[in-house]
Amino acid sequence: MIKFSEEKLNKVQEIIRRYPEGKQKSAVIPVLHLAQEEYGWLSAETMDYVASLLRIEPIEVYEVATFYSMFNLKPVGKFLFEVCQTGPCMISGSDNIIEYIKQRLGIGVGETTPDGLFTLKTVECLGACGYAPMMQLGKHYREHLTKDRVDQIIEECRKNAGMLN
Ligand code: FES
Repeated sequence: MIKFSEEKLNKVQEIIRRYPEGKQKSAVIPVLHLAQEEYGWLSAETMDYVASLLRIEPIEVYEVATFYSMFNLKPVGKFLFEVCQTGPCMISGSDNIIEYIKQRLGIGVGETTPDGLFTLKTVECLGACGYAPMMQLGKHYREHLTKDRVDQIIEECRKNAGMLN
């Protein structure tokens, strides 16, 4: 059964207090972020738990979680490549970058490598159009992507994974 630690539950209460009385639904996005940080992705059970914490209907959580690409609705790898595919990035070659990543990792969009290291997702504009083509990797942006840059990033991730094991 899903249950946040005491520390996370305190954080949830702190977030809820930012909003007017009875408007705890407004806390759904930050609380979903907390849940995703904790579990890596949002299962139906996790979303139901978030709904119970906020005292709202589960459907109200599902609506939000399924709308935003930043929420993962299935398990993802240790390294999540979220490649922007909106206009400015597309014009700058994001399609080629996506194809190259697919080929390098042997996975399609929305898939995870069998070793659980990499997941590839495509997303809409991340607000860094001036650095196109770009992607988000964890909390950081990787910009001006080229095939060489992608190779470097994959190698960096593999090294970091070795260090994390
Ligand atoms: S279009 Fe890619 S960051 Fe805006």
